[in-house]
Amino acid sequence: MKIGIGNDHVAVDYKNQIKQYIEEKYGYEVINFGTDSTERFNYPVAGEAVANAVISGEVDKGIVICGTGVGISLVANKVNGIRCVTCSEPYSAKLSREHNNTNMLAFGARVVGIELAKMIVDAWLNGEYEGGRHQVRIDMLTDIEERQKNK
Ligand code: RB5
Repeated sequence: MKIGIGNDHVAVDYKNQIKQYIEEKYGYEVINFGTDSTERFNYPVAGEAVANAVISGEVDKGIVICGTGVGISLVANKVNGIRCVTCSEPYSAKLSREHNNTNMLAFGARVVGIELAKMIVDAWLNGEYEGGRHQVRIDMLTDIEERQKNK
């Protein structure tokens, strides 16, 4: 399993802690698409890079972090095929995998404490998509993307 991770200047240390947590606990390869500098870095750059890596198959899933998690999740969800959830608790993270088949997770370094963030990551990484009735809705999302392309 390969995870792409991305962040802006607000979340450098936080990103490194999450990266290390996933590598040590799960043994997954975590590829860094974010900045390692605290100089101002616009979150769309990192959000798009991780999203593109998920869509191309370079990584299996993506995690993106900015101050609130909002900006960088908005970016990710602009990329066709990305379903990115912004979470501040594990329940939504788990259900977003089971029901929405999310392929990216976002959270805010200024919002979610690091230990809670690790619980969110656990819930999200361990969540299995259930398919079935949920696939109808995922297909509807894909239909929206197709209709938007043709506008
Ligand atoms: C950066 O100041 C901040 O706007 C960014 O990290 C993020 O919170 C945007 O959504």
